[in-house]
Amino acid sequence: MPYLLGLDIGTSGAKALLCNEDGRVLATATSEYGLSAPHPLWSEQDPLDWWRGAQEALRDVFKEASVDTAQIVGLGLTGQMHGATFLGNDGDIIRPALLWNDQRTAAECDEMTLRVGAPRLIEIAGNPALTGFQAPKILWLRNHEPDNFARVTQVLLPKDYIRLKLTGVSATDAADAAGTLLLDLHKRDWSNEILTALDIPHDWLPKVYEGPQVTGSLLEDVADVLGLPSGTPVIAGGGDNATAAIGTGIVKPGVLSSSIGTSGVLFAHADNAAFDPQGRLHSFCHSVPNQYHLMAVTLAAGGSLRWMRDILRESDSGTHELSYNEMAVAAEMVPPGSEGLLFLPYLTGERTPHLDPLARGAFVGLTTRHGAAHMIRAVMEGVVFSLRDGLTIMRELGIAADEICATGGGARSPLWRQMQADIYGTSVVTLVAEEGPAYGAALLAGIGAGLFADVPDAVNKCVQVAQVTEPNPEAQEKYNYNYAVYRDMYSNLRDGMHRLSNATKTKLV
Ligand code: XUL
Repeated sequence: MPYLLGLDIGTSGAKALLCNEDGRVLATATSEYGLSAPHPLWSEQDPLDWWRGAQEALRDVFKEASVDTAQIVGLGLTGQMHGATFLGNDGDIIRPALLWNDQRTAAECDEMTLRVGAPRLIEIAGNPALTGFQAPKILWLRNHEPDNFARVTQVLLPKDYIRLKLTGVSATDAADAAGTLLLDLHKRDWSNEILTALDIPHDWLPKVYEGPQVTGSLLEDVADVLGLPSGTPVIAGGGDNATAAIGTGIVKPGVLSSSIGTSGVLFAHADNAAFDPQGRLHSFCHSVPNQYHLMAVTLAAGGSLRWMRDILRESDSGTHELSYNEMAVAAEMVPPGSEGLLFLPYLTGERTPHLDPLARGAFVGLTTRHGAAHMIRAVMEGVVFSLRDGLTIMRELGIAADEICATGGGARSPLWRQMQADIYGTSVVTLVAEEGPAYGAALLAGIGAGLFADVPDAVNKCVQVAQVTEPNPEAQEKYNYNYAVYRDMYSNLRDGMHRLSNATKTKLV
């Protein structure tokens, strides 16, 4: 029986997934790695940690599944988007990679907007210059580390660095490449206009493929180490959000996905390159050939709940490892609306809708009545309010949202699922194979290997609904009230947030 592999180079670890031709997941394995923040606003990883993690996850998934690896017919790649891996001659790593949640490039975003022109950038690349995206990171290297910049011969997205290690080939896919800001979304290839305006050499960038296309095959020595057949085809894949959408069947209009992982993402399919003229939503190529998608991103979603958990664990002097389940049990004791407590989840700045790296998190409405359980619930609600901001813009742009598919860690929490149904005001479905980006990458591998005819065929054969959560009208009303307050809160607090962020930058506080 033929098997498919998906490999996700995520932010907290590498995940390998093995499934069969019916899309049944046989095994998954994860290998974690760290993230470093050597300065405020910075977020970096060592690409060699991705490579170690990838190899470990692949070896572990084979052990776990104990299948005949000779039957593996394709490997699909996916990963965290936007990162910049700077490579020199012979693929040497020049410095740690700058990640999607790195916020150091505000000045370079201004430089980029000036050089390309704000409306032109949105027309070509679909998005304004945003700190997390790849292109401003390249300008940052030129402005701040000229010696390193002088050594660059290649810039790759995270999963494409792993592709280079696996196959020796520099390649990417249109969905992930769109997150660089260097791609012409209409041509689905690098934009000479943007590259010239930014003075970035075209030959630093890899060849662009569509998601299901084969980009190369496993190098013999790598295949030997991993215990895979040499020559196993490696498929283009996509950025984590686009491949996750393949695995959740978001490949046609009307159904959206809402993913709560480290970041939170609301994802809608689009048949054509559709833009938010104000650039609040991201507009990218889809992993479905010649299709597009829109995306609203909140930077600290599951990340906010993890932050809360870690604080509660610390205050417990390390005697008790508080779990997410225990947190949910506590939060369930508090009514919807957290008795007048709101949380703004802007712990690492915010993308949608504010596009503001200096935005900061806040609890608003605290009284002596509120305890840890209220704060936990307010954090969970605040994350969904922030995703609802994205839904509000999508609805304004005429995007139908009849049903929302919950994915990511947040989908495994019944409380967070119900909150999503209540706050979005739609049915929320979850799926049988809720395995995120790696699953979609494996399905793309199945198309590349010829097991499925195309994306709709793969989705029809493999994606199945597990359960549906309907909104509760009483809770909906309370949330609507709090959401209206939440919507006003950022503009009320913006000035203070900026003054505090600037003060920490200049070490005033
Ligand atoms: C999307 C984004 C994040 C990363 C996280 O624009 O920055 O979702 O892809 O993996």
